Amino acid sequence: MHAVHEIADGVFWVGMNDRRIERFENMFPLSDGVAYNAYLIKDEKTALLDTVESSVRDRFLQQVENVLDGRALDYLVIHHMEPDHCGNIEEIVRRYPEVKVVGNRKTFEFFKHYYRADLSANAQVVKEGDILSLGTRSLRFYLAPMVHWPEVMFSMDLSDGMLYSADAFGSFGALPGTLFADELDFNRYFLGETRRYHANIVGRYGNQIQTVLKRLPVDSISMICPLHGPIWRKDLSVIWDKIDTWSAYRPERTGVVFIYASMYGNTAEVAETLAFKLGDRGVGDIRLHDVSKTHPSHIIADLWEYSHMVVASPTYNMQLYPPMDALLRELAMLNLQDRDVAIIGNHTWSSAAVRQMIGLFGTMKDIRLLGEPLDIHSSLKAEEEPTLDSLADVIFESVLNRS
Ligand SMILES: Cc1cc2nc3c(=O)[nH]c(=O)nc-3n(C[C@H](O)[C@H](O)[C@H](O)COP(=O)(O)O)c2cc1C
Ligand SMILES: [Fe+2]
Ligand SMILES: [Fe+2]
Repeated sequence: MHAVHEIADGVFWVGMNDRRIERFENMFPLSDGVAYNAYLIKDEKTALLDTVESSVRDRFLQQVENVLDGRALDYLVIHHMEPDHCGNIEEIVRRYPEVKVVGNRKTFEFFKHYYRADLSANAQVVKEGDILSLGTRSLRFYLAPMVHWPEVMFSMDLSDGMLYSADAFGSFGALPGTLFADELDFNRYFLGETRRYHANIVGRYGNQIQTVLKRLPVDSISMICPLHGPIWRKDLSVIWDKIDTWSAYRPERTGVVFIYASMYGNTAEVAETLAFKLGDRGVGDIRLHDVSKTHPSHIIADLWEYSHMVVASPTYNMQLYPPMDALLRELAMLNLQDRDVAIIGNHTWSSAAVRQMIGLFGTMKDIRLLGEPLDIHSSLKAEEEPTLDSLADVIFESVLNRS
């Protein structure tokens, strides 16, 4: 029994789905698991492109053995030295002692930090532009530093334009028996998870992704094979444009995401009221998230998608309410930029939330604050409603201008 698929002549997907995993990087909740993609090329030479997480090791090794069907493994190419793809390198070398392990200088440096095996007899170090010939197929390497980690590289099959893109173009979500984006109703099942994966996992590295996108021979690419999620063989411009947009921090939609924190409901009520005021003015596209309820990775995905945000939070022990503080710090870490932001605070005796939110947004690039930050005294009074109306006018105006 095995679950493999020949995705091109002599190229097999030998990846593994993990449907039991609860959280990616022990942080991001997965409702539908994740796929660790790995590919096996059977040409005059055989080459395994990446391995998988150690949690799914046994079946993976069995699959590799089945597909090799008695042949030796000549190469193991490591595009990314992160443990979710490297949990089997030592075992592969043990089973196929003649295998050449192909990576760049940094790949082998990192390997030594994690694992004990001595790869000196197996290592084949490649640099930018090197070509590995497998017979009819040959792989050209592109170093892609910081497209997640410093040692990441892509490779492109010069014979037919298959691009192996490491973590870039990846998605959360196990693959449902079909592998290709054009088969599995991408928009319905994977677009949101691809965005959430991009924003949270490689969102910080937009500039590095832009750099590598510009270096790739885009017209020659026939297939995009990432290390997670669906494989692309049709309508490549769909995913290419998404990755380009997300990595350039360009919003996809004009609309407003509310992120609020509230213990007793007063801040929540202000957020609700303002949302309805925006709705009344004709802003159709509005999302509301309670930071204590919705996992930050989902909120972050929405913030990647939308142009505007309203951020509302109480002061808590002379500080910004901790889940909001954590979310804004995560946004800054992920380099989110070029967004329009309205700020609302709430306090009873001494305000800190507004000041700290302004400070945190001040560390991010191209964040435009809308109107005057509003600082509520415990609850919104009827006589304060005109202030909220003015803020709604400013947000509405800004949304109109960005449409
Ligand atoms: C544990 C705790 C700590 C708080 N610390 C402060 C504070 O340091 N300064 C302040 O002005 N208000 C503080 N407050 C008051 C809240 O900011 C205030 O109750 C606010 O209206 C809560 O909004 P909510 O109804 O949306 O939860 C604190 C409230 C709690 C429960
Ligand atoms: Fe990674
Ligand atoms: Fe990965």
